[in-house]
Amino acid sequence: MIQVKGLYKSFGNQHVLRGVDMQIQAGEAAIIIGRSGGGKSVLLKHLTGLICPDKGEIKINGIDIVGMQERELLKIRREMAVMFQGAALFDSMTVGENVGFYLQREGKKTAAEIAKAVESTLELVDLRGVENKWPSDLSGGMKKRVGLARAIIHNPSIVFYDEPTAGLDPVVSDSIDKLIKRICEVKKVTTVVITHDMRTTRTVGERVFMLSEGQIYLTLTPDELFASKDPKVYQFVNGISEGDDII
Ligand SMILES: Nc1ncnc2c1ncn2[C@@H]1O[C@H](COP(=O)(O)OP(=O)(O)O)[C@@H](O)[C@H]1O
Ligand SMILES: [Mg+2]
Repeated sequence: MIQVKGLYKSFGNQHVLRGVDMQIQAGEAAIIIGRSGGGKSVLLKHLTGLICPDKGEIKINGIDIVGMQERELLKIRREMAVMFQGAALFDSMTVGENVGFYLQREGKKTAAEIAKAVESTLELVDLRGVENKWPSDLSGGMKKRVGLARAIIHNPSIVFYDEPTAGLDPVVSDSIDKLIKRICEVKKVTTVVITHDMRTTRTVGERVFMLSEGQIYLTLTPDELFASKDPKVYQFVNGISEGDDII
């Protein structure tokens, strides 16, 4: 589903990605961990075709997206949903308009079809009857769930999340983790979560990729991750689940 080979990217003399190799299977829930500033978001932007690598190969569903024309890339992006760090709702639109935004813009569905899709997608994230509310009426956790619904309404086959629980309290984080898992299972979507939240890793993850020094340092299951005696892994898991240090 997602194949990355020998991916390199530098910004000036800062060598962020230095030969990333990874493969994510269809329907899998993959977690990418690594220190803050280590290049996780940069890697994600490569996977969604927003950044072009200096070198390397990125295949989505068998198709190499490196150097692809914007037109073709749009087709590939149609298969994706991306929840960026701190993605905000449109304040001038109701919740329903926010969630239906992409379908509306695409212009292929009737208003009634969109309303139905909005309702069922909101239900998937445990929200009912909130279509006519404004984002400002919602709690932080509800906004996050509306953001989730907006991102997945077009039935993508891959969903990317960048630090989905950053800045949320533990209770809200837990509910978001469970929803990510549910969306993965119910919609059978390939799920890629960037996080340094160890609870997210445990709740959602099937396979964990650890990015360190610009490469995938290890690929392991969450059980293996939490049992690992590898010093880098141990420090990451035990010391700095919130933090910015080491590795
Ligand atoms: N467009 C850009 N131009 C220059 N430097 C960038 C750009 N995007 C990211 N970087 C740098 O790349 C490094 C990795 O960033 P990032 O991928 O955001 O880390 P994280 O693992 O925390 O998501 C950081 O030092 C960041 O400053
Ligand atoms: Mg980041």
